[in-house]
Amino acid sequence: MTEHQRDTVSGLLAEIADVGRDGRRGGYSRPVHSPPEHELREWFVEHAERRGLDVETDRNGIIWAWHGGVGPGALVTGSHLDSVPGGGAFDGPLGVASALVAFDELTARGVTDRRAIAVFPEEEGSRFGLACLGSQLMTGVVTPEHALGLKDVDGRTYAEVARASGFDPERFGADPEALGRIDTFVELHVEQGRGLIDLQRPVAVASSILGHGRWRITVEGEGNHAGATLMADRRDPMVAAAQIVLAIRSLASLVTDARATVGRLIPTPGGTNVIASRVDVWLDVRHPDDTTVQTLVERIREAATLLAAEEGCTATLVQESFSPTVDFDAALRDDLARELGNAPILGTGAGHDAGVLKEKVRTAMLFVRNPTGVSHSPAEHVEDPDAEAGAAALADSLAFLSGR
Ligand code: GLV
Ligand code: MN
Ligand code: MN
Repeated sequence: MTEHQRDTVSGLLAEIADVGRDGRRGGYSRPVHSPPEHELREWFVEHAERRGLDVETDRNGIIWAWHGGVGPGALVTGSHLDSVPGGGAFDGPLGVASALVAFDELTARGVTDRRAIAVFPEEEGSRFGLACLGSQLMTGVVTPEHALGLKDVDGRTYAEVARASGFDPERFGADPEALGRIDTFVELHVEQGRGLIDLQRPVAVASSILGHGRWRITVEGEGNHAGATLMADRRDPMVAAAQIVLAIRSLASLVTDARATVGRLIPTPGGTNVIASRVDVWLDVRHPDDTTVQTLVERIREAATLLAAEEGCTATLVQESFSPTVDFDAALRDDLARELGNAPILGTGAGHDAGVLKEKVRTAMLFVRNPTGVSHSPAEHVEDPDAEAGAAALADSLAFLSGR
C-alpha cells in the first residue's frame, strides 16, 4: 500500500460534503451520470488509486477497486454514490467511505487476501426509475434491452446517457465473469429506521429486505384551458390521480405490514393554467410476503380504473420492477453477529444491491445507527463515532471471512 495518512469515515465524507448539495430541495441530489455523481466517482477512484488498489470500471459501469489483483475468490464490499432527490449524506457514501477505511485497517493488520470495493450505479433508480440497475444488469435480472431503453424526465435514454458518460451500451448486460469473482459480498449501510436507536447499539447485522416494487399508473383525460373549461365539462386526470392516491393509502392501511407510497406525480404538460392531459403516478409497494404485494397492487389497479372512470379518464397500471423479499444467508448473518460482539440482527424495509447479489453469491449487510431514524431525507444522520465503529465492524467482518 502507498504510504498515506489514515483516513476516517467522517473525514472522507467531509471531503464530499459540498458535492451535489441541492439548494432547492435540501440535502443532496446526485443522480446517476450527473456532474455530482461523476465527481463522486472520480473522488472514489482517486482514493482507491492512492491506496494502490487496481481500479477498473466494468461493462455495466460498476467501479471495482482491487487489493491483491483482479481474480476469483474475492471478498467484496461497497455500496453506491447516487442519491434520491434531496437525499441524505449517508445513504450509499457511508458504505463506500467505510470500505476504504476498512481496507486500510485490513492492510494494517496484514490481511493480504484478495478483496475489492464495488461501487454500483443507479442504486436508487431516481433517474431511470429502476433501482439497483447496475447490480440487476450484472446479475442478468434486468436485460440490457430493457435497461438501455429506460428514460429520464428529460426523455433521454439510459443508452444515450451512458454513451455520453463514456460507456459502450453495446457491452451492458449479464456479467458472469465479474459475478464469479465474488466469494462473499458485505454491504455496510446507514440504518433507515429506528432499530438501533431503540437497542442503543451502533451496528447491526441484516436479516432480511422487504419485498418491494414500483408501478406506474398513467391517468389520461383531456388537456384544456383552466379558465375557459367549466367544472362540469372537465376530464381532469389530476383530480382522478388525487382520488387514486387517497385510495392507495386506504387500501394499504388495511394490510398489516404493507407500505405503499406515491412520491412522484408527473403531470403533462404541467402548467398552472392548464388542465393536464395525463398524470403519471409512481407507486412503491412493499410487504414481507410477495403474494400480498401483488394482491394489494391488484386492488389498487381496480380502484384506479374505477376512480379514473368517475372523472371520465382512463388509468393503466404497469409494473416497472419487482424485487422479492430477501433473507440473507443465516449462517453468515449469525457468524457476523457473534464476531461483532453479539450485534443485533435487524430487517430492513429498504432495497439494496446486496439484496440483488444475494440471489447469486453469499451476501451479508451491516447497518450503522441513524439517530434520527429518518432516511431519503436531509434529516438522515450518523454520528462520527458510530461511523468509525461501522468501518471497524466491516474490517472485523472481512477479517473474519479471510480467516475462515
Ligand atoms: C432504496 O433505498 C429503496 O429502498 O428504494
Ligand atoms: Mn442505499
Ligand atoms: Mn436509498
